[in-house]
Amino acid sequence: MNLTVLGSTGSIGTQTLDVARERGWTVGVLAAGRNLELLAQQVAEWQPAVVSVDNSVYAQALARFSVQFPDIKIIADPTEAATLPANVVVNAMSGLPGLAPTRAALEAGRAVALATKEAMVTAADLIWAAAARGGGRVVPIDSEHTGVYQCLTGEALSDVAEVILTASGGPFRDGPDDLSGVTPQQALKHPSWSMGQKITIDSATLMNKGLEVMECASLYGLPLSQVGVVVHPQSLMHAAVRFRDGSLKAQFGPADMRLAIAYAIDAAPDGMTRPGDVRAARRGTEVGGHLGWPLRGTWEFREPDHARFPCLGLAYRAGEAGGLLPAALNAADEVAVPAFLAGQIGFTDIPRLIERVLDETPAGVLTWDTLEQAQTWATARAHELVKGGLNR
Ligand SMILES: NC(=O)c1ccc[n+]([C@@H]2O[C@H](COP(=O)([O-])OP(=O)(O)OC[C@H]3O[C@@H](n4cnc5c(N)ncnc54)[C@H](OP(=O)(O)O)[C@@H]3O)[C@@H](O)[C@H]2O)c1
Repeated sequence: MNLTVLGSTGSIGTQTLDVARERGWTVGVLAAGRNLELLAQQVAEWQPAVVSVDNSVYAQALARFSVQFPDIKIIADPTEAATLPANVVVNAMSGLPGLAPTRAALEAGRAVALATKEAMVTAADLIWAAAARGGGRVVPIDSEHTGVYQCLTGEALSDVAEVILTASGGPFRDGPDDLSGVTPQQALKHPSWSMGQKITIDSATLMNKGLEVMECASLYGLPLSQVGVVVHPQSLMHAAVRFRDGSLKAQFGPADMRLAIAYAIDAAPDGMTRPGDVRAARRGTEVGGHLGWPLRGTWEFREPDHARFPCLGLAYRAGEAGGLLPAALNAADEVAVPAFLAGQIGFTDIPRLIERVLDETPAGVLTWDTLEQAQTWATARAHELVKGGLNR
């Protein structure tokens, strides 16, 4: 197996390389942003043919890497990197910059193990059209979505009554009732998972679960009304599918992203070409441990608290409206989270800001052009609201 890893220096990217090391896979292309220290170590270990870096550090990377690694081609273009030959392209770039590489990889016929949830959240129809045009395939990387994939394998979508995604509930699931004074340090203490900063804050607001609900509906061709959320603090059950005959199939596993990453890469070469086109995957060997058997302890399942975590409801609202609202929601969140981390807005301002942007987003038909315009508009509007203390 030869991989391209986009976002190799991030949380999912480094765990992808852990899996590749355990499995004995090779890595032909690495793409990162600005963390040249870590990237240099990765290049020394994996000896890829091509390395991409963020434009802002290209000159620095060229000066440094072309001496250290004279045979390696250095570019500043993750989209080009995504199209290069590979058995699987792992896209672990965070946020909107990950969209163009996803599109390009699928149009080039690549099998994509997709962590960048923003692609399916904001542009599902366009992403599936790109896959259809180029012959690309998709398997998601996320514990919940690979969980759903496993539950749906061998089943007919018409038999599905509901898909259920679990949420740990984040650091504030048991309080305080008033979240207006919580600090970034408190919000970054995730109870179950170790992840990048953006997704950790999204887990604390439940926006991450909202994005996952939208992503799930887009991946498996289901209406949002058939995608539910349950809070499960133990983070051992990742997803379940309830069928029309009354039975329930659930997927359990340790809270370790390496399992979801390995499963997605194993499954990607035979992955989905259209929503819900789930094929049986050939599983590889164990990575990162397994759940002990017999299972012990108490497992809880509760309804999410929509009043304390309004981001979840906002995501359902944007997903149901469709068009450009999911892109506006995502862009507003991408401004709100760093603003909260920088102390510019409070925790409860995050949903307030997103709601304001959603209220003002013009209706429109989704195309690559309108998507970009909507993102640019929503980003600018969210920055204005941050600057104006949400009063403008
Ligand atoms: N973390 C998890 O457990 C988890 C679970 C499920 C889904 N996801 C999803 O996976 C995605 C990645 O999450 P993460 O937590 O791994 O994020 P992260 O730790 O912030 O990593 C983001 C990666 O993107 C890279 N990047 C930034 N600009 C780039 C560019 N121009 N070209 C190529 N790479 C660039 C960063 O590079 P530098 O650091 O070098 O700047 C970094 O390697 C997100 O969409 C997230 O929602 C994450």
